[in-house]
Amino acid sequence: MSNRILMTGVGAYLPEKIITNYDLAQWVDTSDEWIKQRTGIAQRHMVADGELTSDLAINAANEALNHAGVAASDIDLIVVATTTPDDTFPSTATKVQHKLGANKAFAFDVQAVCAGFVYALSVAESMMIAQKATKALVIGAESFTKLLDWNDRGTCVLFGDGAGAVVLEAEEAPDNFGILASSLHSDGAYRDILYVDGGPSVNGEVGHVRMEGQDVFRHAVDKLASVMQEVLDQAGISADEVDWLVPHQANIRIINGMQRKFGLSSERVVRTVDKHANTSAASIPLALSQAVHDGRIQPGDLLALEAIGGGLAWGGALVRFGRP
Ligand code: UT7
Repeated sequence: MSNRILMTGVGAYLPEKIITNYDLAQWVDTSDEWIKQRTGIAQRHMVADGELTSDLAINAANEALNHAGVAASDIDLIVVATTTPDDTFPSTATKVQHKLGANKAFAFDVQAVCAGFVYALSVAESMMIAQKATKALVIGAESFTKLLDWNDRGTCVLFGDGAGAVVLEAEEAPDNFGILASSLHSDGAYRDILYVDGGPSVNGEVGHVRMEGQDVFRHAVDKLASVMQEVLDQAGISADEVDWLVPHQANIRIINGMQRKFGLSSERVVRTVDKHANTSAASIPLALSQAVHDGRIQPGDLLALEAIGGGLAWGGALVRFGRP
């Protein structure tokens, strides 16, 4: 037994509006067949006019708090991973804090694009180990469709909006529970293969996503496999002990490649890319929440999380879910 950082609740929220590949093909030069074959995506959710990233985050957070049985007023720390904040400042996290009534929490955003959730999880864990917080909310929330150039078929078909959240609690528990390992990496040399062509100091604009898809694909396959091996080694766990791979949902071919590489059976991989597309920092907690709430993931299950995105920034984590 020791002081462990346990994942005790999960929640998610998707905007109501759904855009299918068929809808997209009406205004973009693409087809359902191409998108499904290359990415596995069939549809994506999209925010309504006036619906903000903070709204998605708050809905996901409320579900996670209910699931954990924790009151917002007991939360000490809120980390929101997002690349699509409501405002350039203040952080989306402070808005979430206020609207949840999490009055004693300190709150800030983490920006690591698609790797945002694994970054935010690790940041929250570190602060909890340093005893700056005993109960934390880690949220991934994105209105990523706001960054899309609808004339660029190479990117606009890939992304969607949504949010997912987890509650972390520091508690005495067996050593094999909670967050067991995590690892984060960045390499800014690859900035130009995935970026947004705007920003407050560059041109005062929000900009649009630009991507060299094949280059990103190659890095993803390589770097996700190596970070996954790294967290397994860190925890002294072999891949066959992993109950669930809950990967970033960018492309079904990358997800299936990881499944094969680590010898996992297909039904032990959570796949939501068909319904959600790539929701950047929200994709892992959205997938996690779906598999917990439909009863697939049970307390005590060992989860492997991994993600990569713009930066490049990537990371992985191993978590034994829930309480003993
Ligand atoms: O979350 C951040 C991490 N991001 C990723 O992991 C994304 C990684 N990359 C990918 O998932 C894939 O590279 C894509 C799905 C983006 C693209 O798939 P691809 O198999 O690498 O296709 P491609 O870019 O090589 O394009 C193949 C062809 C091209 O036509 P030509 O030059 O062969 O005639 C494209 O112009 O497909 C064409 N194309 C499209 N056709 C119909 C590109 N986008 C589309 C489209 N619809 N939406």
